[in-house]
Amino acid sequence: MFPKKPPMGFNTWNTFGENISDAMIRETADAMVEKGLLKAGYEYLVIDDCWSRRQRDPVTDKIVPDEKKFPHGMKAVSDYVHGKGLKFGMYSCAGVRTCADYPGSFDHEFLDAETFAEYGADFLKYDYCYKPDYVNGVNLYRRISMALENCGRDILLSACNWGCDDVHDWIRSTGAGMYRSTGDINDSFVSFRDIFLSQIENAKYSGPGCFNDIDMLTVGMRNRGNVASTGCTDLEYRTEFALWCMFGAPLMLGCDVREIDGDMLQLVTNPYLLRINQDEACRPLFVANKDWNSLRYVFARVLTDGEIALAFTNLTDDDAELWFALDALGLPVSAKKGLRRTDAFTGEDAGVVKEDMRVSVKAHGCAVYLAKVVDA
Ligand code: GLA
Repeated sequence: MFPKKPPMGFNTWNTFGENISDAMIRETADAMVEKGLLKAGYEYLVIDDCWSRRQRDPVTDKIVPDEKKFPHGMKAVSDYVHGKGLKFGMYSCAGVRTCADYPGSFDHEFLDAETFAEYGADFLKYDYCYKPDYVNGVNLYRRISMALENCGRDILLSACNWGCDDVHDWIRSTGAGMYRSTGDINDSFVSFRDIFLSQIENAKYSGPGCFNDIDMLTVGMRNRGNVASTGCTDLEYRTEFALWCMFGAPLMLGCDVREIDGDMLQLVTNPYLLRINQDEACRPLFVANKDWNSLRYVFARVLTDGEIALAFTNLTDDDAELWFALDALGLPVSAKKGLRRTDAFTGEDAGVVKEDMRVSVKAHGCAVYLAKVVDA
């Protein structure tokens, strides 16, 4: 499947880990609709690891859902999810076991693709644990992609090899629709900061058809659940969400969406930030200015219709003024042009600047603007 824009949805792993169930998935599907998440674009509901029995069925060799967690089987869950207007995602692994030690799809790729098609899956996250040493990892993503392309259903392949083997060089050629480029996120500022920093150089290896996936969001987790760590402040969650949007990353919510409300719900449905993320040109961001210590950045991104997105990102522990020269965008002083800006967090007109732009940004904060070129 060839996604034209960064896929958006929810994944069970960050909050629920192995504590997944039929009821929890149905409640999540309800919440995604009732809270306006589906309307905002979050369309995939993905069940991550730990959904199956520990062993394949001895007769059919198929992976079988754990009947304690999913007593009505997976097709019933998928039907419910589809009935809500959402798309349904499943999880497996290129190795012999999944990362949490359930059956993997190694040497069962075509059988498992058929099983996921029978469930009515629209998305498959495909992990990389327990890969036999003698097997070429690249080939395993080719196999599962080939199996999915020929299973009779349109299923988006979400590769997850954590950036191993220079994945950005070859993953698009396999047919995958997105690919994880980093290790696992946890609910802390340091975790999302380092993941993001590690991929700035790789923003160019992302675009329609195959998106660089910098992991599921921890926004709104409030340090509860499977990948809890130090937790984040609301300001830090705002920064995380803004950076994922600026990057054009897939937006997979990892918090308990049954409980998301208020500021966090507003944040993940912010129409300006989502417009940046979902811009159809999917151009990479670039660095318009960078501080000497490398942790204060102004990122820019050229959007369609002459719009420019700007993110003043202060990843240091001190408040600071960040700036860049408009010339860095291709607006030299001689052009006599300025930028009219809209604050992406408030939707307010932030006026016109020329020559350079300066913004005070709190420690760990991020200010985001949508800008248009005007005469000045
Ligand atoms: C790996 C992946 C995670 C998650 C777990 C499940 O660590 O990177 O995103 O899917 O496996 O066990």
